[in-house]
Amino acid sequence: MKPIGTQSILTDRLMLRRPQASDAQELVEARSLAMTMEEGKKAVALMVAEAEKPFCFHWVITLDGRAIGRVKGWEVSPYNGYVQLGYDIAPRHRGKGYMTEAVGAVIRYMLLKAEANRVYCSVREGNIASRRVCEKNGMRCEGVLRQHYARQDGGYDDVCVYGIIRSDLTREVR
Ligand SMILES: CC(C)(COP(=O)(O)OP(=O)(O)OC[C@H]1O[C@@H](n2cnc3c(N)ncnc32)[C@H](O)[C@@H]1OP(=O)(O)O)[C@@H](O)C(=O)NCCC(=O)NCCS
Repeated sequence: MKPIGTQSILTDRLMLRRPQASDAQELVEARSLAMTMEEGKKAVALMVAEAEKPFCFHWVITLDGRAIGRVKGWEVSPYNGYVQLGYDIAPRHRGKGYMTEAVGAVIRYMLLKAEANRVYCSVREGNIASRRVCEKNGMRCEGVLRQHYARQDGGYDDVCVYGIIRSDLTREVR
């Protein structure tokens, strides 16, 4: 895997770029970061610092210059060539295909440009929107981890592991 870190990615409608301190206000106001402004500033400061590192991946999704969501690559294993993705988008921007577009671009970036071999996502079984984002990007449900994520009510959710490997890709990097 190449140590290329977080570089900007342009898609048809979106620009994905490194986080910057001024994103905190827009992300908290849009509820992409569901926290207080103070917590949001700390969270963004951490992202800004991590995005400097060669094997850390933090993108802010922008639409017409405004921050509306995030995609991160975490649990990165340069040796094994894999990365896990996490993502969210502000509630008022959901259901318009934006995350499908952003995650598709990040998958191609990771597999083709950073030369990872595998990208995966862990999704609560009931999170149909997130499962659709994975499926629409050619990720396969490879298995279910039983009761893997805790819920706030004290129970546990099963988690679907979606994955895609480089040889699954037939498309070019944008
Ligand atoms: C999951 C999330 C990122 C999806 O983002 P998005 O931009 O709305 O996704 P898209 O518009 O690209 O696609 C959403 C798909 O889910 C479907 N969908 C959304 N809500 C749904 C529901 N309640 N039941 C069934 N399908 C649903 C949409 O119809 C669409 O599928 P389609 O194109 O086949 O019709 C967004 O809902 C979000 O930020 N959720 C909170 C954080 C989160 O769950 N992150 C993922 C953790 S693994």
